[in-house]
Amino acid sequence: MIDGKKVLFSGMQSTGNLTLGNYLGALKNWVSLSDEYECFYSVVDLHSITVRQDPAELRKRARALLTLYIAAGLDPEKNCIYYQSHVSAHAELSWILNCFTYMGELNRMTQFKDKAAKHADNINAGLFTYPVLMAADILLYQADVVPVGKDQLQHLEITRDIAQRFNGIYGDVFTVPEPYIGKAGAKIMSLQDPSKKMSKSDENTNASIYLMDDPDTIIRKFKRAVTDSEGQIVYREEQPGIRNLIDIYSACTGKTPEQVEAEFAGKGYGEFKMAVGEAVVDVLKPLQDRFHDLSQNKDYIDSVIKNNAEKASYYANKTLRKVQKKVGFPEKVR
Ligand code: TYM
Repeated sequence: MIDGKKVLFSGMQSTGNLTLGNYLGALKNWVSLSDEYECFYSVVDLHSITVRQDPAELRKRARALLTLYIAAGLDPEKNCIYYQSHVSAHAELSWILNCFTYMGELNRMTQFKDKAAKHADNINAGLFTYPVLMAADILLYQADVVPVGKDQLQHLEITRDIAQRFNGIYGDVFTVPEPYIGKAGAKIMSLQDPSKKMSKSDENTNASIYLMDDPDTIIRKFKRAVTDSEGQIVYREEQPGIRNLIDIYSACTGKTPEQVEAEFAGKGYGEFKMAVGEAVVDVLKPLQDRFHDLSQNKDYIDSVIKNNAEKASYYANKTLRKVQKKVGFPEKVR
């Protein structure tokens, strides 16, 4: 609890171009929850280097992502928006938690297996211990809730296991966090292969809607989206392409899948795809406009970066000091 409010933590990697999946699965929910909780939203650049990055590009993308958080509607006066690399407690707690995490647990992580397969030439130790850093992120702020898309649930589970293990040994040190998964949009699938999630790293650019895609590109990608030959707009397992489009439309308009089915009963795929494209443009266009305005305001963004890193460090260091004491590190002599 901070000032009587429960704490929320979440983060995103500043790698690649953010997709509609990132927005509907995470960012959109962050905004809707931000009044209710004391919120920490990190640009997790430490995580990004588990895959080789171009330094200038990484810096540029990290700043763009931080700006995007604000453009999406997170007020940096109320929400702590900061770079993970500016708060050294993340790396320090991560080391400690590494010593409370088993190789067997990390071996089971599906994201590690996927990424190791994709980057076979660079299966580094950071990629393997990635979930421990994520646990450190969350536990440092004593977060009660962590809004994420479905693909991060396994990492939330290991975070809870690490917290409970540590608490079991040392007493109540960490709050055990709960995941928060939104009603719609928790797993947005590729537009070209609805059996795969929409991902920033997909090589086929038609498979993903990027948050900065212009309206024409968005409409064109939806027109080309892979569906099926059934011809009916029905929300069911057997029609994963249409199901995904209904999910996207629901998440953008707030309508339930049943309402969407009723709206498009008897209509063709062409008309439906057009409507989904327009609904997405309606959501993304204002965000893009705010993003471009904010990006011009260098001093403002700089002040957010500075002030919020200080605020995050204050809370993170409080937990870190408690943990250091519990595990038996000597007190500093002042
Ligand atoms: P990342 O950067 O891959 O994704 C950021 C958020 O977007 C969600 N997401 C999706 N949701 C629905 N459909 C999709 N296709 C889709 N793709 C991505 C993700 O679930 C995530 O919520 N490891 C994390 C970042 C992280 C983190 C944390 C998150 C680091 N520390 C602590 C929460 C708490 C990641 O790589 O997310």
